[in-house]
Amino acid sequence: MAIILECTRESILEAVSRLKAGQLVVFPTETVYGLGADATNASAVSRIYEVKGRPPTHPLIIHISTIENLDKWAREIPEYALLLAHRYWPGPMTLILPRSKIANNYITGAQDNVGIRIPGNSFSLEFLKEFELQGGLGIAAPSANRFGKVSSTCAKDAQLALGNYLKPNDLILDGGAAIVGIESTIIACIDNAPKILRSGSITEEMINETIGLNLDVKSLDRTQGIRAPGLLDSHYAPNAELYISGSPEPGDGFIALSNIQTPIGAIRLASPDNNNDYARILYSALHLADSKSISKVFAVPPIGDDIAVAICDRLLKASKR
Ligand code: TXA
Ligand code: MG
Repeated sequence: MAIILECTRESILEAVSRLKAGQLVVFPTETVYGLGADATNASAVSRIYEVKGRPPTHPLIIHISTIENLDKWAREIPEYALLLAHRYWPGPMTLILPRSKIANNYITGAQDNVGIRIPGNSFSLEFLKEFELQGGLGIAAPSANRFGKVSSTCAKDAQLALGNYLKPNDLILDGGAAIVGIESTIIACIDNAPKILRSGSITEEMINETIGLNLDVKSLDRTQGIRAPGLLDSHYAPNAELYISGSPEPGDGFIALSNIQTPIGAIRLASPDNNNDYARILYSALHLADSKSISKVFAVPPIGDDIAVAICDRLLKASKR
């Protein structure tokens, strides 16, 4: 177990000292909560894998507070990656870049590149800045959930997911509900054009607009050597079985935009008004289904080329078993 502390100046200082002592800190970001460790402490990072139940070959994202620190972790940064960094950081975007020497194999899963993000949440930025002020170089953090399960968008869901695996000296910082609600867009910046490895709220159109239309934002080619998120068939999955077609029977869970009526007898888990709202509340709705021991959930996928692309990606992966 680990205690939850509301984000304040004192709790952030406490969290930094725990990280420096090699403990883990669950912290809020605008996408989902992260399970953080000092990225330069191999044994602290290995505990992330234990607590998450994640295979060691899956690399971790390094979180930093400012673009000035990018050079510490990455090298040979393409011009288009800098354009993206200056446009969307701090924010819900992760860039995969050629790694520097300090980006060790235990962070990158022995790949030659490293994932970096500057999160947009003010608490996470304050936490990162304080950590760096005290000599830290970056916080390695995956989403705060067990491997293959639904990410956590609030401190309580993170505690429910990981509480049994965290130690009393680890800490959970509560910064309220995440405002984006699904994980960052991951963009590989290692060739002469970027590739989207995981969709998110930074869309293909936003990337194209930033780097100029002469570059084509290709989606991941599965035949490439690079290890990418969620390529495993089942990911982001609740305990309940998730269906993205068909209709629920009485007692089944139901998630859809608010203009879609609840089928008779179904348990409405969320009624988002628009696609951004859908992303923001999707994971808490899936956690809610599990806490109510609902065994089947039906979700009506949203439509659009905005964040709907990412929602559909997560729903599809969560529906595969
Ligand atoms: O929004 C987010 O990105 C959240 C918050 C906490 O920052 N983090 C997150 O981390 O979603 P995680 O580990 O749950 O998902 C990151 C995915 C993983 O599937 C990992 O394999 C992939 O990104 N990844 C990380 N570094 C990579 C790299 N160097 N090359 C390819 N994939 C990488
Ligand atoms: Mg994750």
